[in-house]
Amino acid sequence: MAQTENRLPLTYREAGPREANVLLLIHGFPLSAAMWRPQLETPPAGWRVIAPDLRGFGDSPPAGTDQTTMDAMADDLAALLQGLGIRSATVCGLSMGGYVALALLGRHPARVKGLVLCDTKAGADSDEVRRARLQSAARVLAEGTSSVVDSMLPKLLSPLALRSQPGLEQEVRGIMEAAPAPAVAAALRGMAARPDSTPMLRTINVPTQIIVGADDQITPAGGAQLMVRGIPGARLDIIPEAGHLPNLENTPAFKRVLEGFLATVR
Ligand code: MLT
Repeated sequence: MAQTENRLPLTYREAGPREANVLLLIHGFPLSAAMWRPQLETPPAGWRVIAPDLRGFGDSPPAGTDQTTMDAMADDLAALLQGLGIRSATVCGLSMGGYVALALLGRHPARVKGLVLCDTKAGADSDEVRRARLQSAARVLAEGTSSVVDSMLPKLLSPLALRSQPGLEQEVRGIMEAAPAPAVAAALRGMAARPDSTPMLRTINVPTQIIVGADDQITPAGGAQLMVRGIPGARLDIIPEAGHLPNLENTPAFKRVLEGFLATVR
């Protein structure tokens, strides 16, 4: 685990040659850089992969506030890139990581030279979802992270992936349960407060790839289709035999799509 020298230093994992184009992988909720295991084990040829732990998660320092906004997470990432002397990166965010990727693009556009949005959406929460998130945040603080894990896990992975990879559910559970309750609650409140990013879609002028698992129940393909219609020149690939975490559930198909896209932004 490396650290930057910024005020709120994020820990990160990395793979690939130092002097290469950078692929920044932003994890989902309530996960950590560990969810990018296959992409770190076999990084795309010629790419340096950097996978940070967002504030409060993995080995990064505690969130320190009741609400971690997507903007704060995006600013941490911009500081991380700056601390590493990286001017810009191709940014790949999954689910909450996608919300953060859009915030990074909005706030620090010069840092983003390509975008991969996985199993995510541009819209804000409905009032009902927002209320449920705030209730869930209170419950996590009272009962611990497992309350959120128990409600999310049954919807997270495709039955086909569960059959072909018997150890996957346990691996994902372990990553999620390691997240400290205050960070989980703060991220839930931050997601509830995030703005609608739909209006920015038409202004996105970097190459963009959208990916969604065919069986994603948490951010179903409809949200991906809205994004591909909104972002000029974006393309969408649907990963078969995968739910919300296609990079883990169908790693070969995810790799083909990601590397095909990276070849166009290199
Ligand atoms: C995630 O996987 O990051 C979350 O499910 C995102 C969300 O709850 O909106």
